[in-house]
Amino acid sequence: MSEGGRDQILVTRQLSGAVMTRLREHFEVDVYEGRGAMPREELVRRVAGKAAAITLLTDRVDREVLEAAGPGLRIVANYAVGYDNVDVACCTEQRVLVGNTPDVLTETTADMAFALLAAAARRICEGDRFVRSGETWIWDPGMMLGWDLHHKTLGIVGFGRIGQAVARRARGFAMRVLYAANAPAPSEVERETGAERMPLDELLEESDFVSLHVPLTPATRHMIGARELERMKRTAVLVNTARGPVVDEQALADALRDGTIFAAALDVFEREPKVLPALRELPNAVLVPHLGSATVETRLAMGMLAAENVLAALDGRRPPALVNPQAWPNARARRNAAP
Ligand code: GLV
Ligand code: GLV
Repeated sequence: MSEGGRDQILVTRQLSGAVMTRLREHFEVDVYEGRGAMPREELVRRVAGKAAAITLLTDRVDREVLEAAGPGLRIVANYAVGYDNVDVACCTEQRVLVGNTPDVLTETTADMAFALLAAAARRICEGDRFVRSGETWIWDPGMMLGWDLHHKTLGIVGFGRIGQAVARRARGFAMRVLYAANAPAPSEVERETGAERMPLDELLEESDFVSLHVPLTPATRHMIGARELERMKRTAVLVNTARGPVVDEQALADALRDGTIFAAALDVFEREPKVLPALRELPNAVLVPHLGSATVETRLAMGMLAAENVLAALDGRRPPALVNPQAWPNARARRNAAP
């Protein structure tokens, strides 16, 4: 539907100013101005009649939302690389395009995974809390000992763009890099990163650090549970910048408490934004509120890519970051409203 010939789009949270400006140059933009996630009823109500929706990973986009939107909806542009919040199969069936924001956040998220890895291994957050506590201290040979990163073995689970970017960083730390993935990476990627593929169980046994980079799917849900944690070294550190439900959070809390592994650093949580109370009590858990792509530069780039996805789709062009290319050949066409 359009107003004065301009398509109406929904944006479920304020994005960078430049992104909002770009969108407003082309569309009537209905943006949710409230704090936090757009309430479900409001999403369902305000998506009605829109030609596009820019959604966040906190919005569930399912059949109900598509039906509420009506036949004019042509693209759901998710402002994230992950799209487990979107029922892609349903969108494809309804000939609605789904966009995401890959590539622009790869290096930023890999930086975060490495920062978390270092923070957990070297007890940075624990040290910070200690200094702030005001407790008296003096440099001590045995104080807050962590574990080296350099020359250790890093196991990367899921070896897509972000996993590979983490592997490149590990080279600078002279780490041995292993990866577990459904398929081998191209040989030039293996050569460049020096990464060696192995089955998950073996990777868990060999690695000093395990970093997760798989999307959330039925196959990866609880991929790391009690059994897998048991296989890891007692000195190991687990890093999760992927999706919370990939890890069985209760099993992880038990493992951290019992010393089954040394530490964990989590950017994502199983019941986000809720965090298991047991985890919050553990000094060897580094906990960060889903900040993997949270830099000024990357959030702008993500917004611009989401905007480009919408601009392309509503202009009848193939969106640059299209999740469901199967929907492209017979994607919905513009429904002309009043001139
Ligand atoms: C963030 O988690 C993303 O998928 O972009
Ligand atoms: C997964 O999120 C990837 O892009 O590697």
